[in-house]
Amino acid sequence: MINMAKPEMGEEEINAVVDVMKSGMIATGAVVADFEQKFADYIGMPFGAASCNGTTALHIALLALGIGEGDRVLTTPFTFIASSNSILFNRSVPVFVDIDPQTFTLDLDKLEAYLESNYDESIKAIMVVHIFGLACDMNRLQQIAKKYSLKVIEDCAQSHGALVNEQKAGSFGDASCFSFYPTKNMTTSEGGITLFKDESVAALGRKYLNHGRVDQYEHDVLGYNYRMTNIAAAIGLEQLKKLDGMNDVRRRNAAIYDKELSGNPYIKTPIEPNGFKHVYHQYTVVLEGVERAEVQALLAENQIGSAIVYPFSITEQVFYNDKSVNVGDENARALSRKVLSLPVHPALTEENVLKVCSVLNTLAK
Ligand SMILES: Cc1ncc(COP(=O)(O)O)c(C=O)c1O
Repeated sequence: MINMAKPEMGEEEINAVVDVMKSGMIATGAVVADFEQKFADYIGMPFGAASCNGTTALHIALLALGIGEGDRVLTTPFTFIASSNSILFNRSVPVFVDIDPQTFTLDLDKLEAYLESNYDESIKAIMVVHIFGLACDMNRLQQIAKKYSLKVIEDCAQSHGALVNEQKAGSFGDASCFSFYPTKNMTTSEGGITLFKDESVAALGRKYLNHGRVDQYEHDVLGYNYRMTNIAAAIGLEQLKKLDGMNDVRRRNAAIYDKELSGNPYIKTPIEPNGFKHVYHQYTVVLEGVERAEVQALLAENQIGSAIVYPFSITEQVFYNDKSVNVGDENARALSRKVLSLPVHPALTEENVLKVCSVLNTLAK
């Protein structure tokens, strides 16, 4: 079976976990602090606050940046629900702006047009999601944010190592948030981290994720227990060393798909705009003129996994109706009916990827 995901766990990760277990310091501690700094250095941000998953990392970013009740946050409707749920956690309001159908990321023309005619002081931030491993155009987004004095939060759950003009995704905004779930480009089992530009904001983030502690039993804000464990951080330190290599294999697999599927009239392959480095958390194609269910069935018959990421725009999740603003979701809705993600993870061999291509190319015969 060619699966959609397979975490690459080696002896290094196993030994690192055993070392932590033998040390007796299995909850949060020095290994987490080491991981926070090394990951922040890798991305190019000064401060890191590790947490127990990517969802809590987003919540911590919003809390530390002071985004609260009634504040509005511009974001994308084409993402995993955790991105916009984190905005709801603080009773803030997600304002959904449609996506660019070529890149699946926020449409910055539409974002700018919305701000031009609707800006008011309740709009506090942009939460951008670098979806599937391709970063949004951060230089332009930063200019827009600056013009309206908006905070920028980057959801990098799917973009560890992605680049925009040689600069890492996650190093542009006021805060950036990563997930280390096992299907992601690197893992800590469950885990997350929020990176910060500003030291005092980072200190606040750390406080929120550790019960709002000033001292062991002294608390001056409503905090949470979102801490990462040393066991998770030990896995993360080893995975971080392998991240660039694992991304190279994802890119090699993507290049095989790009080439082999280029003549297939039913399949539109993803793009990598000039100046961007895609890290293919997902290799997501758009199907035209063929039933998606048929394609999935054909792949399954040949022992090949596939996934619909995402089957809906978040604007279609009914519980959002009275909690969010929908500026536009036409592309998000249309694409959610046509996308299909193919296996691209680093445990695949070239032969595996060629097999997926040859099965898909039977559609064109
Ligand atoms: C874009 C995006 N944001 C946030 C998350 C949440 O991360 P976690 O599952 O680690 O809580 C995910 C995870 O799937 C994601 O893909």
